Amino acid sequence: MPIQYHSSTKTFHLYNDSISYIFMILENGTPGQLYYGSRLSDKEDFSELLEMKRRANAPCTYEGNLLFSLEHLKQEYPLYGHGDLRYPACSIQKENGSYIFEFQYVSHSIYKGKNRIKGLPAIWCENSDDMESLEVVLEDQRTDTQLTLYYTICTHLPVIARHALILHNGQSSITLQRMMSCNVDLIDDAWDMIQLSGAWSRERHVSSTPLRPGVQSVYSMRGHSSAQFNPFLALKRKECSETAGECMGFTLLYSGSYLAQVEVDNYHVSRVQLGIHPDCFEWTLQQGESFETPEAVYVYSEHGLNGMSQAFHKLFNHHLVRGTYRLQDRPILINNWEATYFDFDEEKIVRIAETAAKAGIELFVLDDGWFGNRNDDHRGLGDWYANVSKLPHGIAGLSERIHAIGMKFGLWIEPEMVNMDSDLYRAHPEWVMIDPDYVPCHGRNQYVLDFSRREVVDHIFNMLDHVLDGADVNYIKWDMNRTMSEVYSRSHSSDRQGRVMHEYILGVYDLYERLMQKYPDILFESCASGGSRFDAGMLYYAPQAWTSDNSDAIERLKIQYGTSFVYPPSCMGAHVSAVPNHQVFRNTPLNTRANVAFYGAFGYELDLSKLSDEEKEEVRQQVAFMKKYRHVFQYGTFYRLSSPFESNETVWMSVSEDRSTAIVGYYRVLNEVNVGYRRVRLAGLDENAVYTINGTDQATDGRELMKAGLVISDYTSGENGETYNGRNGDFISRLYVLES
Ligand code: GLA
Repeated sequence: MPIQYHSSTKTFHLYNDSISYIFMILENGTPGQLYYGSRLSDKEDFSELLEMKRRANAPCTYEGNLLFSLEHLKQEYPLYGHGDLRYPACSIQKENGSYIFEFQYVSHSIYKGKNRIKGLPAIWCENSDDMESLEVVLEDQRTDTQLTLYYTICTHLPVIARHALILHNGQSSITLQRMMSCNVDLIDDAWDMIQLSGAWSRERHVSSTPLRPGVQSVYSMRGHSSAQFNPFLALKRKECSETAGECMGFTLLYSGSYLAQVEVDNYHVSRVQLGIHPDCFEWTLQQGESFETPEAVYVYSEHGLNGMSQAFHKLFNHHLVRGTYRLQDRPILINNWEATYFDFDEEKIVRIAETAAKAGIELFVLDDGWFGNRNDDHRGLGDWYANVSKLPHGIAGLSERIHAIGMKFGLWIEPEMVNMDSDLYRAHPEWVMIDPDYVPCHGRNQYVLDFSRREVVDHIFNMLDHVLDGADVNYIKWDMNRTMSEVYSRSHSSDRQGRVMHEYILGVYDLYERLMQKYPDILFESCASGGSRFDAGMLYYAPQAWTSDNSDAIERLKIQYGTSFVYPPSCMGAHVSAVPNHQVFRNTPLNTRANVAFYGAFGYELDLSKLSDEEKEEVRQQVAFMKKYRHVFQYGTFYRLSSPFESNETVWMSVSEDRSTAIVGYYRVLNEVNVGYRRVRLAGLDENAVYTINGTDQATDGRELMKAGLVISDYTSGENGETYNGRNGDFISRLYVLES
């Protein structure tokens, strides 16, 4: 049984083969945390882990008792008042203005499997043996309010999921001002915090810093999860590397404004919280109303950062992504954005698709510019019907021609946005989210539709439904190209404005859900100016995401390396684009561009007809190679071996589930002269199996490849224009295919 309740000590122990999570109901009726980490043997009484200590000035709960103080006890879901002076998980105000609540244990239930969360993404299982769940019901009797804490542990993965629900039964209203999804109080602060930060076109760069006293956080107040700070943080021990050591990762299944913070108190306790960002959040509950938070996921690893990432990857592939494409190889696509931008018509599109079909590419994606009066980015958003001056036969006619060539057909949309120069805006100016007393900001000349209003979501659904119903569309790229700056809904009363940001995201999820239900075979790829909404919440709806608008292979090393900390290669949109690259104007070899993009949801983003015959042949071979190995690339166990943030050489690899095939990607950014010998120690192989290595007549056993390493240096010294496999210079790469 992964969840045990020991009634004599009121202790809950969630455990599987690798992790334990333990808490107990304290003397005052509130849940107190005892342990989170590597698996412990189960027993009735863990109360020795409850550290009570007499400390000067501490607010104490019981008269005559100087030990029991919530300022120091570790808690499951702390509140303001009763002595805890750190950030609360939840802050609620009563009608009399007081913030004091006390939620005490009432009951609990333990059951196999896991329930879904209404209107929100959540991990799930087909087979109820894969997960076990616990609900702990607490109550504040004075206000007649219930707080339910939800926990799920995966049977075979080092994963715990948590969220919380508040149900108000009292007569007078209460107002939530902060309601985090989870809280974990770790007993020490000897951790480095890793975060994935960046900006447009340099998303999810890895940075790490030792924890220090006080609050350190990542967050978004932009209305999407953001390229600035991904909704994720990890804590790792100083000595933890990619392949060994202790670490834990935390992420939130949410796509809106969020906060993830670690607060180190003056006794070195590290309090980790994740949830909806409390700024501009306010939610009043009348009698009978409830509020449920998004879900947070914790992963624990004793096998280094790769162990953490692999657990996230498995969890997301098996228990987050839904629908037809779950665990399926992703179609190799060609997207026309960098090939044409807005400048296309039906004939040009068909010509690009025909060349792509000859190379074996499976899906054509028509990007921005096909609808309304959309000939540049100043107009047209909101008018979801074909621009017949570009596409005389509409979307139905074009999709028919693409299918006749033997390809699937995909379409770009940006349903949450509107340009003022559009029929939609002219008909419904009040649907834009702005405060009409001020001049609003635009972003890329566009405004945000108020998705907190049901009628707006209904209207957009109907327009899209009309396009999809009449055409054979197999894929949708759902974009979102601006941050939100004036979150105000003209349909909400003044006391309901604090709900708008969250209700907006619920509206986005609702539109996704409705389209998914009606068109279950469409593959969705999410996008937000590249990778600004690359989060676990989105993956519940869209099985893949456009990783970054930066398609340069060398830049992508950092972006994909960082993204892989949490997200599996199966979901990382990765394309081969033209040179010079459109973002950094760099020339990289065609094989390096593909060798990077193979480790993802692979595709092309250029006009293949502009390539030489030799290059076209190279593309044809790349596509054939990807088709042969894509399951290993997309669903294999992924190992990061050498970091682009620390070295001139990046190395990563994917190993098939049965360990019979492994593909090592080796990338050298700048050439060096007269370097020494180099070997890279591989990981995840079968140590007794003998592997052949492509391009060599070498056969080496897995143990040697993991202990001594794979020889990656070549015989050239970098002098006199010597080449290796016909190439040398900067930006070279090689793929080693190992087969046993
Ligand atoms: C965003 C996306 C791009 C492309 C353009 C179209 O920037 O990230 O891939 O779709 O929009 O306008």
